[in-house]
Amino acid sequence: MTKQFRIQTLNAISGAGLSRFPDDRYDVGGNVTDPDALLVRSAKLHDAPIPDSVLAIARAGAGTNNIPVDAMTQRGIPVFNTPGANANAVKELVLAGLFIASRNLIPAARFAHELTGDDAEIARAVEAGKKQFVGFELPGRTLGVIGLGAIGVQVANAALGLGLNVVGFDPGISVEHAWHLSAEVERAESMEEVFRRADILTVHVPLIESTRGLVSTQRIALMKETAVLLNFARAEIVDEAAVVAALDEGTLGGYVCDFPSTAVHKHPKCISLPHLGASTKEAERNCAVMAVDELRGFLEDGQ
Ligand code: MLT
Repeated sequence: MTKQFRIQTLNAISGAGLSRFPDDRYDVGGNVTDPDALLVRSAKLHDAPIPDSVLAIARAGAGTNNIPVDAMTQRGIPVFNTPGANANAVKELVLAGLFIASRNLIPAARFAHELTGDDAEIARAVEAGKKQFVGFELPGRTLGVIGLGAIGVQVANAALGLGLNVVGFDPGISVEHAWHLSAEVERAESMEEVFRRADILTVHVPLIESTRGLVSTQRIALMKETAVLLNFARAEIVDEAAVVAALDEGTLGGYVCDFPSTAVHKHPKCISLPHLGASTKEAERNCAVMAVDELRGFLEDGQ
């Protein structure tokens, strides 16, 4: 029996989402041909031919930079994403990033992992070596948050609970429109003010033309020499060459990001993670459920 709708999945998508497609009406899978819709996570569609049969694309994630949205819009193909569905997961990793930076956790764990000898020798090496990992505490320091969408707001609000002063700015929306942003988060007059004041600066903007290279040489030059930059958004939002130059010159304290690259992943003042922001069971489920519901709404009800 021919099913009513055909969905091609281009990545592994959480079963909790896929099970929301009723079996009797949907043919779903990686091998589906002539699909009515595509369901993707990180697959890059810029150079992939999009079949003429496609009526809609859904991304199980917040960013849509892996999809040629403008070209799809010209073809009348809506692109759905799942804003907010993985915001808690990303927030939690950003908080981990704060502690990674403030307590030198990754180099310290690496140091411990490489210790050899018996327990007495290990104890002596710990005593001699731990001084290099002395960190700093967060209360009273200033976290700058650039981008106050679902993720930036959650990060800003959570940081208040750690005793940080938080100053935020959004280059795209008026801060008054940042939903659920605590009144205790200070609203900056400009993005530059956030760069100047932050002890730790975190960016949470989507990758679009106007945010590519947003963390530029000029803006990094405004930062404190000891400041740490966190990037759990997209690698391209930060000019990595400028970051490396500033780290080497001692005009920036450190860089923690969710994107290893040849420029940063072995740099002694950089810590990079393998794009883990949205990689929790809960976030994968939430994104898949939201993406599937969006596709169903569109295909079944034209919404
Ligand atoms: C996002 O845009 O929300 C993340 O990149 C999702 C993911 O890791 O797939």
